Amino acid sequence: TQALRLGIAGLGTVGVGVVRIVRRHADLLQARTGRPVEIVAVSARDPNKDRGVSLSDYAWETDPVALAKRDDIDVFVELMGGENGPAKASVEAALASGKDVVTANKALLAIHGQDLAEKAEATGRVIRFEAAVAGGIPVIKSLTEGLAGNEITRVMGVMNGTCNYILTRMQSQELGYNALFEECAQLGYLEADPNLDVGGIDAAHKLALLSSIAFGTKPNFDGIEIEGIQQISLDDIHQAHDMGYRIKLLGLAQRTARGLEQRMQPCLVPSNSPLGQLEGGTNMVVIEGDAVEQVVLRGPGAGEGPTASAVMGDVCDLARGLQIPTFGRPATSLQEATPARTGLP
Ligand code: NAP
Ligand code: HSE
Repeated sequence: TQALRLGIAGLGTVGVGVVRIVRRHADLLQARTGRPVEIVAVSARDPNKDRGVSLSDYAWETDPVALAKRDDIDVFVELMGGENGPAKASVEAALASGKDVVTANKALLAIHGQDLAEKAEATGRVIRFEAAVAGGIPVIKSLTEGLAGNEITRVMGVMNGTCNYILTRMQSQELGYNALFEECAQLGYLEADPNLDVGGIDAAHKLALLSSIAFGTKPNFDGIEIEGIQQISLDDIHQAHDMGYRIKLLGLAQRTARGLEQRMQPCLVPSNSPLGQLEGGTNMVVIEGDAVEQVVLRGPGAGEGPTASAVMGDVCDLARGLQIPTFGRPATSLQEATPARTGLP
């Protein structure tokens, strides 16, 4: 049987996690997909960095675009990050040269997803991005496959591990969130620009992607009302606690009579509710559909293992020949979203 051949661009937290899984679970991956899954070539900025994993079996490409165009790969795995620059250029190059793409890059897809999905469709390829939303939780697979028979009415939840970690540690340790940045960095949670995390932008990128899949609309990041956690003080957290609440950065997307409502903002939730009990880097996504009623998904939202797990789920689907369109339906059928602005205070 022909192997599925991967080219991986980006060997940081997530990229190294993917290399580790491919090496550790070679037999398991072959048994599950019916064919070997192999890494052929890799790319990162610094060829001399010790990444704690052997890369000597793989070809090295300094330029991720050159990697994306290689004839000896079937799937381009983009794990560099950034909404423009090498991530966008290399994904476009991969699609143009007939490769499927797996990425964890929510910023890229929230901003350029429609264009990239149309490009993928034009060349008969797909972009898979399970790892881009809620880390190890298979939320995209749930929406596009398991819940495909539902009209989705609402998607909500906690979608940023860094913010949840900082808010819960502030609660229990009386530390300001600046002091917790280093812990999040050690855990591999932070975006290259951590302002995206604490500013609610990263979680909003994820919400834009979930909305698109849930409601059949073009990803509309600009239509999201966003407020981050930078202004939350220890006093706020303690006052909430005294009233029986916790503060969570909560995302919500739902259809209303005025249009698509999308919000990402700190909210009070009862301390004893499942959302209130969510600790550390854990994420929770609640999906409501007309037939299923409500599904609650909970799991690790960031970090090496969980994120690489989601990347590999996509890789395995491609190894099996499963070609689900990028946003769960043809890109050309996605509607323009009409934002229902509610006006945050
Ligand atoms: P990271 O640790 O900073 O790693 C980024 C990697 O990309 C590094 O290996 C870096 O090379 C490489 N890179 C950056 N610019 C490059 C360029 N111009 N050319 C070639 N290589 C380049 O980031 P990460 O945490 O793994 O995140 C990667 C992606 O996954 C991002 O889109 C992020 O949003 C997403 N994601 C992350 C997590 C998480 O928990 N970390 C979870 C879900 C999604 P060097 O190592 O040589 O500098
Ligand atoms: N920075 C992101 C977070 C990584 O903290 O949730 C996972 O997407």
